[in-house]
Amino acid sequence: MAEKLLEIKNLKTSFRIRDEYHAAVDDVTLTVNKNEVLAIVGESGCGKSALAFSIMGLHTRAKIEGNILFKGEDIANVAPSKLNKLRGKNMGMIFQDPLTALNPLMKIGDQIGEAILLHNNTLSKSQRREKVVNLLQKVGIPRPEHVFEQYPHELSGGMRQRVVIATAIANEPELLIADEPTTALDVTIQSQILDLIKDLKDDMDSGIVLITHDLGVVAEMADRVAVMYAGQIVEVGDVLTLFEEPLHPYTRSLFNSIPNAHGTQDKLHVIQGIVPALQNLPRSGCRFAPRIPWIDEAAHEEQPILHEVKPGHFVRCTCYKHFKFPEETKEEQHHGVS
Ligand SMILES: Nc1ncnc2c1ncn2[C@@H]1O[C@H](COP(=O)(O)OP(=O)(O)O)[C@@H](O)[C@H]1O
Ligand code: SF4
Ligand SMILES: [Mg+2]
Repeated sequence: MAEKLLEIKNLKTSFRIRDEYHAAVDDVTLTVNKNEVLAIVGESGCGKSALAFSIMGLHTRAKIEGNILFKGEDIANVAPSKLNKLRGKNMGMIFQDPLTALNPLMKIGDQIGEAILLHNNTLSKSQRREKVVNLLQKVGIPRPEHVFEQYPHELSGGMRQRVVIATAIANEPELLIADEPTTALDVTIQSQILDLIKDLKDDMDSGIVLITHDLGVVAEMADRVAVMYAGQIVEVGDVLTLFEEPLHPYTRSLFNSIPNAHGTQDKLHVIQGIVPALQNLPRSGCRFAPRIPWIDEAAHEEQPILHEVKPGHFVRCTCYKHFKFPEETKEEQHHGVS
């Protein structure tokens, strides 16, 4: 039986915009087990980073409702001092934008050294230095002794991201949240970084939340996948199920637009439009309905709930069994299927 590391229950994260709260994360229920990679996918603006920040307790002005259990303890609204202890030691995060994570006034070596010192004061200064240099080496930084003495602005974006990764894994966290960690990096470095994340999972039994829009990375790294749309999880399942048997129209549209195993392109169901801004989300009914105008209006008046359709496979859609893309309807007409 998989051991639960993180259990998120009915999480709602709302931002105040003018005089009203709007939920960027709405009714999210998710589990991350030890020794597993849970990938979170979804278009830009779906709430992936807002979810990651909620787990890490990094929102300063958001309203957080629901539960975030880390090893059974609710950390959804705990005191900052307690979270500071957890962050960096038990939980690490790789941010989408490395600049937000680094102190511009501090040398690289000192920043990583401080992250280690905060949670482990048994090492001598020289042992700490050695550990930092090893970490820099591990994330593929050439001349680590030299980079140790540099400041963030002296490094390229890719190098900075590697420093952020070195900091996040410095204390071998039990839970690592990686928010689009390799977007800014070239392919070789990307695969080195992904290997590091895999090592953390295998060697430390860590649980990893990997936010990415790269389905190749999902296929290579993930054990399970959660698909997010407009603040909600619309489908969760193991990685094979989602690639081979996606059920929610949004997942089908995302996963059908990649090359298939035969090296050809599957039929593309490209869904037009973008994720609406928080203030413009549908107030009732299915949030995805405005993106699929060809379906019968009566079919999406109800707000769908995430429900289990097969063991471990959850879908938030009331009518996926009857749902068809326009191309599928045309094909059926062509073949005389009624
Ligand atoms: N601090 C904030 N205040 C107001 N709205 C926010 C804030 N942070 C994010 N949002 C909004 O929440 C939604 C989700 O954003 P985000 O979590 O960054 O999406 P993603 O990471 O999936 O691209 C977007 O509509 C974004 O504009
Ligand atoms: S519930 Fe209906 S409108 Fe919503 S995603 Fe499913 S098919 Fe589309
Ligand atoms: Mg983001």
